[in-house]
Amino acid sequence: MKLNLLCLAYLILPLVISSSEWPRFTPTPSPWPEQFHALLYMNLSTSRLQMSDLWYDWPKGRNVNIFQKQLGEVLYDIEWNNGTSFYYTLGAQGACQVMDFVVGIPRPDFLDGANYIGTTVTDGFLCNVWEKVDFIWYYEDVMTRRPVRWDFYDGISTHVMTFEVGAVLQDSLTQAPAYCFSQDRAKS
Ligand SMILES: *[C@@H]1O[C@H](CO)[C@@H](O)[C@H](O)[C@H]1NC(C)=O
Ligand SMILES: *[C@@H]1O[C@H](CO)[C@@H](O)[C@H](O)[C@H]1NC(C)=O
Repeated sequence: MKLNLLCLAYLILPLVISSSEWPRFTPTPSPWPEQFHALLYMNLSTSRLQMSDLWYDWPKGRNVNIFQKQLGEVLYDIEWNNGTSFYYTLGAQGACQVMDFVVGIPRPDFLDGANYIGTTVTDGFLCNVWEKVDFIWYYEDVMTRRPVRWDFYDGISTHVMTFEVGAVLQDSLTQAPAYCFSQDRAKS
């Protein structure tokens, strides 16, 4: 009797295990840290290049990009969570444009709901790749879960050179110059 039961178990167990669907593990992107600094290498859709110092700061409600155009000007892009963005250059030829957007800066979890595509090697790193609403393709290092690269639908490709979690830009460097406040606003 004991032996028969054991035989039955040997017969049935493998069937049960093979027929049950193992839950598949689908990776999800790490949320952005609430505050970080990243040095970015960007290839624009025009194939022009620029570096950017990105200072993301969710608690302060701002997202700052300081762009160094290749052999060109430095462009400040200060985005606030209330939708207002200031784009300006400094110096004697300094100019400014103020834009009001309907949405504010990206939330730390802005990649939630992205579709997992799979793994690939990019920039020499093995990455998980997601796509969200045909707008962004996002590459995250499998080992460290740091962002490596993201591409926008319009052909701009961004490569992450440094990623300092917790780094914060001093407030004085986010103050738009006076000539930003003496003109009409553009709506977007
Ligand atoms: C920039 O992107 C274009 C289009 O993908 C590519 O042909 C070119 O080689 C890239 N340039 C650099 C310096 O990465
Ligand atoms: C949004 O916040 C920034 C920074 O505090 C401010 O300069 C700007 O006027 C605000 N925009 C609106 C529409 O309130």
